[in-house]
Amino acid sequence: MMTEYIDVDAISRMLQSRHNVTNRNCMIGRRCALFALSILLILVLSVNIYFIRMIVESSSSHRMYAKNLPESKARQGPSTPSRSDEKDLQLQLKSIVKIIGEGIKEEIRSLPSKYFKQNTSYTIVLERLLAELTIMPNVREDIWNIPNNNWPDAHQLIPPAAPELGTILEVLRRSKIVRADNAPLGTQLKLMLNLENDIKALFKPQWYSRDTILHGPVYHGKDRHNAEVVAFHLSSLLALRRVPLAVIRKLDLKEEIGNYATPALYATMYQEGNNTCLYGICHYCSPADPVCGTGDVLEGTLIFWLPRYLRLVKHRHPWQRTYKRNKLAAWEIDEGYCDKVKDSKAYSPQSSSRLLDLIDTAIFDFLIDNGDRHHYELAQNNFHNPAVLLIDNGKSLGNPDVDHLDILAPLYQCCMIHKTTWDRLRLFSGGSLGIALGRLLAHEAVMSDVSPLITEAHLNAMDRRLLTVYAVIENCLKKKKYISNVILDHR
Ligand SMILES: *[C@@H]1O[C@H](CO)[C@@H](O)[C@H](O)[C@H]1NC(C)=O
Ligand SMILES: *[C@@H]1O[C@H](CO)[C@@H](O)[C@H](O)[C@H]1NC(C)=O
Repeated sequence: MMTEYIDVDAISRMLQSRHNVTNRNCMIGRRCALFALSILLILVLSVNIYFIRMIVESSSSHRMYAKNLPESKARQGPSTPSRSDEKDLQLQLKSIVKIIGEGIKEEIRSLPSKYFKQNTSYTIVLERLLAELTIMPNVREDIWNIPNNNWPDAHQLIPPAAPELGTILEVLRRSKIVRADNAPLGTQLKLMLNLENDIKALFKPQWYSRDTILHGPVYHGKDRHNAEVVAFHLSSLLALRRVPLAVIRKLDLKEEIGNYATPALYATMYQEGNNTCLYGICHYCSPADPVCGTGDVLEGTLIFWLPRYLRLVKHRHPWQRTYKRNKLAAWEIDEGYCDKVKDSKAYSPQSSSRLLDLIDTAIFDFLIDNGDRHHYELAQNNFHNPAVLLIDNGKSLGNPDVDHLDILAPLYQCCMIHKTTWDRLRLFSGGSLGIALGRLLAHEAVMSDVSPLITEAHLNAMDRRLLTVYAVIENCLKKKKYISNVILDHR
């Protein structure tokens, strides 16, 4: 639980500072003993206060939902469910999400008409992005160096204007593979490829057809390789260029992988009829679960490996799921959860824009239906206020018929958003988000010679979900209490 984490941290910090004082002052034994005793007293007291606060908070936050729940359920403690409570918990969660969902539906019905009309200015952004995707003639020899050395900074992986983008994506599509290995990352099958010119890239193979619909929990299933490319282009449209470069690539498994595979990877390659297959080495990899090409050709996504000098540090997402059916996370039951997050130094809106970045991330993830962002990365070089990167988007595009509202929890619980993001979102009203993303992806499909990268159903889903985002923000704007916090921009 977040509060636990913060307070334990605070206590340990306090202990540490006391300890330093003790070292300096405790020259005489008796004084020292007295001092130690008083520390103990303070400690006991603060732990007591902490627990009392927890109890008060959990019962008061629980009360907010209580009127909408049957009596007996409302009285149960939220944090320590036994196995028999599982059904109750699921019911409780469903009813909380339902209450929020109904509020949002109501809000959508009363949204101003401007949100349903196209904002003509979106074409300026779209045309600029399409122009970036064209391939430049006569480029400098070492153009592939640009995404390593020139582009990344504290706020983005790619600058707002990147005229070389299309050319660099083409380098990724055409560069010769010089080494192929298992990627020791995550739990699923991925290949780590070295391309000529010292380029490194991750390859995620295709498992599903474009129109596969996945049912079950939001994080269900294997990676959707096309989602990485969709996320890349969506990030450009939303001016959140924090997604690594990604292109579709069809690999000849014999020629391009087999010939350059490490022995360990090669040992997992085999022939099945006319098709070449491989199963790799990873947590979920097994001979029973191979990925096979059509003949020798396997489609997948190539993701540009970020430069070595970027010191990526992984952080636990405060709105992380429990990934257990019988346990709810603190944020799922506590409407005041955001205040607790804000109380910690890392997320205080006064000290950084990290929380606002997580809200951007929530909106981005809600649009593409990515409910699996349990951690996030920051480039902690000497950057001041580094942006939250959007790495690993493979669990998106699961089901275009479902909107997982809880992905938006950081937005509706905090009621804050970067002004730049809000402006960008309003640019894509009235179905133009789907149109613009469709155009960028159609270009990408032609360049990589593959079938359309996304179905109309997924594009329509994004337009529908954008209305929900508008509704949540309109609702926040209405709550006068929060108005000064609604539009915040630290950048
Ligand atoms: C394998 O390829 C050959 C030649 O293209 C074809 O005749 C045969 O039917 C294929 N076999 C299978 C199992 O698809
Ligand atoms: C169009 O988008 C811009 C930028 O976000 C915004 O300022 C403007 O209000 C929008 N126009 C309409 C009619 O929504």
